[in-house]
Amino acid sequence: MDTVAAVNPDDLQKEALAAVAAATTVAELDEVRVRYLGRSSELKLALREVRDRETGMALNAVREVLEAAFAARQEELERAELSERLATERVDVTLPAELLGDVRVRPRGTLHPTTLIRRDVEDAFIGLGYEIREDREIETVEYNFDKLAFPAWHPARSPRDTFYVDSDHVLRTETSPSQIHILEEKPPPIYMVSIGRVYRRDAITPTRFPIFHQFEGLAIDRGITMADLKGTLLHVMRALFGEERRVRFRTHYFPFTEPSMEPDVSCGVCGGSGCPTCKWSGWIEIGGSGMIDPQVLTNVGLDPEEWGGFAFGLGLERTAQLRYDIPTIRPFWENDLRFLRQFR
Ligand code: DAH
Repeated sequence: MDTVAAVNPDDLQKEALAAVAAATTVAELDEVRVRYLGRSSELKLALREVRDRETGMALNAVREVLEAAFAARQEELERAELSERLATERVDVTLPAELLGDVRVRPRGTLHPTTLIRRDVEDAFIGLGYEIREDREIETVEYNFDKLAFPAWHPARSPRDTFYVDSDHVLRTETSPSQIHILEEKPPPIYMVSIGRVYRRDAITPTRFPIFHQFEGLAIDRGITMADLKGTLLHVMRALFGEERRVRFRTHYFPFTEPSMEPDVSCGVCGGSGCPTCKWSGWIEIGGSGMIDPQVLTNVGLDPEEWGGFAFGLGLERTAQLRYDIPTIRPFWENDLRFLRQFR
């Protein structure tokens, strides 16, 4: 009874109201509430022990005052905390979300235009039943030149044109060695496309760079004619550049094809009537091609009387330049995001 008797309702109320007023957050207020109105608070214990009406009424009055004070303070603090949050967490909707560090809009990378074209090329040939392969970039002189029937005097053999690793190895100058590799690996019929990097000691110009990519096609079968070559290139050019494209051949020379031709594709900018892009010819040069030279077949142990075929080699960057209207080859190798970002 002593403890109960010790409770002075007035003092208790004054002390509790001061604590309520001093609470500056909802969490603090909750602690104060437990202390003064909780199950084991002085007031609740006293109420439980109350024996006379007068004390009971006095204590209950204190409880009501405190409950009201708590409710009022609670509302006040909640409102303050809300406006605080509204102020600090305000979102400036005019700010790009990526600048706000929102992980959902982290800038995403894009595929390099060379990769995009490479995939288109692969798709076009896979659709024709070709297998896709890659070969080594450091190649032997034997595979890069000899087996492709490059004569000893051919200028491409010169160290001024080609990067030699040592006297027997070069950074391959073309993807054509893949023709020999696959022909030595398995018997025909063969339909393959080899894609990868090639290297030449060229000065950098709008169309030349010492590293670039080629894709090389090879078809070996019985009874293949130039019509098959032309039809294949036509299909691929239409897949890459659109249905309206036409293909024509100009005679040329390559050591490993006979006859050899340079295929042209009709200019997509002017539709063939002539414009600056095609230098007013209506045609754009896209690479080399030809019917496999019998010497190459003999070099890999095939009988040229039984087997024949065609091959072609085209530059990937060149193809991408035409496809995306990119005036120079340099940005393909510069890693400038302002360029790369345009290809989504
Ligand atoms: N290898 C030649 C070059 O890089 C391109 C080429 C021409 C490839 C004729 C071929 C071909 O397969 O038949 O210049």
